[in-house]
Amino acid sequence: MKYKSLELHKPDIYELEGLEVGVTSNCNFKCNYCCAYQRNDGRSINGQEIIRILEDIPTLKRVRLSGGEVTLKYRDCLEVVSYCSSRGISTQLNTNASLLNAERVQQLHDAGLSNIHISFNFTSAEKFAAYYNLHPSIYDKITENIRLCVDTGIDTVLETLLFAETQHNMKAISERVYDLGVRIHEIQNSIVMDHTGWNAISAREELKRAVHELIAMKQEDTVLYFTCMDRFAEALGFQELPNVHFSHCVDGKKQLHLHGNGDILICELCHPVIIGNIYQGASLREIYANQPAPLADFLEKLPCPALDALFPQGI
Ligand SMILES: C[S@@+](CC[C@H](N)C(=O)[O-])C[C@H]1O[C@@H](n2cnc3c(N)ncnc32)[C@H](O)[C@@H]1O
Ligand code: SF4
Ligand code: SF4
Repeated sequence: MKYKSLELHKPDIYELEGLEVGVTSNCNFKCNYCCAYQRNDGRSINGQEIIRILEDIPTLKRVRLSGGEVTLKYRDCLEVVSYCSSRGISTQLNTNASLLNAERVQQLHDAGLSNIHISFNFTSAEKFAAYYNLHPSIYDKITENIRLCVDTGIDTVLETLLFAETQHNMKAISERVYDLGVRIHEIQNSIVMDHTGWNAISAREELKRAVHELIAMKQEDTVLYFTCMDRFAEALGFQELPNVHFSHCVDGKKQLHLHGNGDILICELCHPVIIGNIYQGASLREIYANQPAPLADFLEKLPCPALDALFPQGI
């Protein structure tokens, strides 16, 4: 399954095709923008339990393993990837890539991982270290692991968060992504975090300039995905082009998030509203047939904080 094929068509029927699993909410980083639900609350799900849950969902096409930092539960991820491969479900691992190594990358590849999705926001070890308050050697480890993923033949996606810190450096970031051998670059529009008050998002003109710049400099053999921009792409003059996608948002419509404590959320990133708990009677298989009240309300209103932030008065 091609990266983001779930997002390439506007969702018309609401059905559970994608599940994002917060395998662990623990993380070895402390990014100030982080959207992880209840980060470091100690909750996690093991591989066998995830598989038991997935077995009950016949409509699934994609499982995204996220967190927290999923590679803290590397063995469990590997089990889930193998299971999904045997069922023809595509898999994505969202990671900061600091804890990978050659053996792990090879095993993930052999288990049939469809995509590895790695955060990449800085072009030098010094800038990375200063921003995240981490040792510069971690940056070198991450870039080494990115190259390993590419060389091993895993479809590798680097994701750059477009926010106050990166918006004026997108050209250099894009060049670095290319130099690392990566040909899929995802640009994630930044979303304000109500629970922490983080709001260093890109303003409208900066975002517009950065997107046009990235499209203008795109290399022929690269694919660009712009995420959380579909609701205003047209208003800002952004156009789909060959290998330039403004992915359709599937959160709450075709994809839900499952936290380690069994909570089902509409969207971890922007709408962390609990619509049921699998240990308290909620069934993922039936969730769109039953439509719990908060889900029905979401589907009726389809709120989008990315749209509201750039167009507070509406488009
Ligand atoms: C929560 S992280 C979990 C995976 C892994 N720990 C990582 O950081 O790559 C998943 C993705 O969410 C994105 N993200 C985090 N905070 C965000 C925010 N405020 N707005 C938009 N995306 C955000 C990150 O860029 C990251 O790629
Ligand atoms: S690495 Fe990912 S989960 Fe960890 S703090 Fe950063 S964004 Fe959050
Ligand atoms: S609803 Fe949320 S996930 Fe969907 S595009 Fe808007 S901000 Fe992004």
